[in-house]
Amino acid sequence: MYKFPDGFLWGTSTSGPQSEGIEQGDGKGMSNWDYWFSIAPEKFHHQVGPDRTSTFYKNYKEDIELLEQTGHTTFRPSIQWSRLIPEGVGAINPKAVEFYREVFKRINDKGIKLMVNLYHFDLPYALQAKGGWENKETVYAFRDYAAKCFELFGDLVDTWFTFNEPIVPVEAGYLGEFHYPAKVDLKAAIQVAYNTQLASSLAVEACHRLNPAHRISVILNLTPAYPRSDSSEDLKAARIAELFQAKSFLDPSVNGYYPEELVEIIKAHDLLPDYTSEELDVIRENTVDFLGVNYYQPLRVQAPEDSADSEDAANDVAGPTNLDYYFEQYVMPGRKINPHRGWEIYEPGVYDIAMMIKEDYGNIEWILTENGMGVEGEEKFKQDGVIQDDYRIEFIEDHLKVLHQAIEDGANCHGYMLWTFVDCWSWLNAYKNRYGLVELNLETQERTIKKSGHWFKTLSQNNGF
Ligand code: BG6
Repeated sequence: MYKFPDGFLWGTSTSGPQSEGIEQGDGKGMSNWDYWFSIAPEKFHHQVGPDRTSTFYKNYKEDIELLEQTGHTTFRPSIQWSRLIPEGVGAINPKAVEFYREVFKRINDKGIKLMVNLYHFDLPYALQAKGGWENKETVYAFRDYAAKCFELFGDLVDTWFTFNEPIVPVEAGYLGEFHYPAKVDLKAAIQVAYNTQLASSLAVEACHRLNPAHRISVILNLTPAYPRSDSSEDLKAARIAELFQAKSFLDPSVNGYYPEELVEIIKAHDLLPDYTSEELDVIRENTVDFLGVNYYQPLRVQAPEDSADSEDAANDVAGPTNLDYYFEQYVMPGRKINPHRGWEIYEPGVYDIAMMIKEDYGNIEWILTENGMGVEGEEKFKQDGVIQDDYRIEFIEDHLKVLHQAIEDGANCHGYMLWTFVDCWSWLNAYKNRYGLVELNLETQERTIKKSGHWFKTLSQNNGF
């Protein structure tokens, strides 16, 4: 039996933009996702947009009952900024206050530990239209929004997250093209990353100032970068990948400052963001109380074909236009794969993350805030009305075995949260990949607990398996 420490938390994570949906007259403002869908619906899987997410706004009472039925002792939803403050700054939507208060109250009444995230890829469009995260105004608007949340809900919520996976909107919106504004601009990407970090630190400051007993963190998608080989080029590529993709938020969030090597790399190509020393003080003085860690798959890296050290690159006066200048993704032959989603499965990643946090980040307390298995076409696994998702149970067990070992070896991990609770909408992929403990029927919005949901309850009750 794999028994977890007393008080270990079991639950799931979700987000407002992916689960609430839009109801006539709810007063919600337009987010970057609502806007993008309105101008480019063809980008979204089956043209299902953010207006048709899984109706938590309407069905929250039933859903909160389901939290209990699936053994949750913790739950992580997010507040939608565009629901609470429709224009991003200024007037508050009273219906949103009422909704979130009611939801949080009911979850508390069930004795479920609530942890609320403030930002899950969703920016009010009014701020996006003014440059979004490239513009420092957004940073201060976020600080004020966060402070408003601490004031409005601080009697019901004592554990907060500032951002979920802040590197993702940077990469997806400014280096790839799967988040709005879908442009490729490395300088802007670095400014956005810096501005997001500053916003996170300002929210930490506000949280501690307004409610000193409350705890606040950021959720980072962490994985060590695994190099293709031991060659110096591959090792260097992996080190740089880790700097950009993990340490760019991990170090300032936990330690209060950026890794020197990252700063040097960025400086070398004149890509430093616009910053002030007062802002760096804010980052230094407002570190997180613990850490949320999302882990799905490892980052495998190889040196780029055109290595940054090569003669070609040295002569390349234009410098890097994207991160593939420094490193490229590597597909490891023979890797274990989730065939229903195409992502690698590598359980030892959990152990490596745990040891990295233990050895390099003072063994700060952390929670595994997302881990999970997406499955396309999951209805084919339905028997007698219930999705028989043994693959998901196996996936969770295999990761938990590794996490258990890490805890035995001193990891300071206090909980496991699956992505996700009820199958939810997922950005451009919409409902393509299902992740839930609870199946959602898109036609009727009916919820049915999957085999994994019943299993999860036993897992939670036994505090292990
Ligand atoms: C996580 C995000 O990294 O991946 C979620 O935090 C997202 O918001 C999830 O839904 C799954 O992504 P996908 O593309 O498989 O649906």
